[in-house]
Amino acid sequence: AAAGGAAGLSGKRVFIRVDFNVPLDKKTGKITDDSRIREAIPTIKLVMEAGAKVILASHLGRPKPGKTEGLSLEPCGGRLSELTGYEVHLPDDCVGDSPKKVIYDLRAGQICLLENLRFHEEEEKDDEGFARQLAELCDVYVDDAFGAVHRAHASVHALPRLMRERAAGLLLQKELKALTRLVDRPEKPYVAVLGGAKVSDKIDVVEALLNVVDTLCIGGAMANTFLAAQGKNLQKSRIEEDKLPLARTIMSKARDRGIQLLLPVDAVVASSIDATQGEPASVDAIPEGTMALDIGPRSIEQFGQAIERAKTVFWNGPMGLFETPAFSKGTFDVARIMSGASGFTVVGGGDSAAAVKQAGEHIAKGFDHISTGGGASLELIEGKRLPGVEALRSAEVSE
Ligand code: 3PG
Repeated sequence: AAAGGAAGLSGKRVFIRVDFNVPLDKKTGKITDDSRIREAIPTIKLVMEAGAKVILASHLGRPKPGKTEGLSLEPCGGRLSELTGYEVHLPDDCVGDSPKKVIYDLRAGQICLLENLRFHEEEEKDDEGFARQLAELCDVYVDDAFGAVHRAHASVHALPRLMRERAAGLLLQKELKALTRLVDRPEKPYVAVLGGAKVSDKIDVVEALLNVVDTLCIGGAMANTFLAAQGKNLQKSRIEEDKLPLARTIMSKARDRGIQLLLPVDAVVASSIDATQGEPASVDAIPEGTMALDIGPRSIEQFGQAIERAKTVFWNGPMGLFETPAFSKGTFDVARIMSGASGFTVVGGGDSAAAVKQAGEHIAKGFDHISTGGGASLELIEGKRLPGVEALRSAEVSE
């Protein structure tokens, strides 16, 4: 069964695993980016309109054992209701009698959103007993939680393997289609742009990209480590000293394989991360007492030229401290250039996807795909197995 063929779902209880793990404002608890909720709506509508009873389930945050404060899915239910007009009912637990009752009582136009799956430690342990309790609630399983398919957790791994009727939702299908295009014979030239704070977070993806790309642009604080490995004095900039040998290895691999590795030639510098203004400086002459907090105008131009020439572009990680206006230009300009580029453009989730949205709706529209998955999109590109996808495909059903 594929969720695209929703006929035959009438009257059935359909469990849709969504990824409503949305960012929340630390002070107010309000949702700061509802993209993951919006992106789940097509599948929810399809199943609702087929006359099924919809049961949504998600994790939110990483609750500590026994702690639930601030991590209820209630705000997500509220937002979903505002966006769709459906009445969203939230039982106080995801298993047991309370969801059973809510599901039994569901009428047309009403949805059941289970409480945070991670309030039970068994979820992250991929516990089969817990999965069986979830299975009791439904007749059909749909996975639309792309952002969580890299986790071997009960609701995405053990549960589908218990269900005879299971399918990939529309969002999961869309994500896999777009991201697979970057892995299976991508159109050349292929340019990847990586940023973010640490080289250590990106080692696997860099290794994988070195097998496919023609050009790799590196910005963000991780570029500092590469520049330092070339012997440049980055002054007070953030550098991972222990990753200097790794940076050298990556640079020599790129050279051996004829891959163009573009590092920033200039930066926007300031004396601290709390500064509200920065100055451009060449990476060969970073002034004493300052640190690089964004890529500079000449680097934007170089990266931009590569992006404009590319037939395939993948981007993950901001180019600087983009939360501060003085250091946001590199990230927003890269977003703008990619948005207008003619190649197939994909941005991985997390900070860079958030930056694209912040840059404005017209910028976001220009991308071919903005992934809802952070870790999941990277693991797919790295060629790792995705337990959630494997569980859907696996032929056997455990009894
Ligand atoms: C994400 O935000 O990447 C997913 O929702 C997975 O969340 P996790 O990293 O806490 O497992």
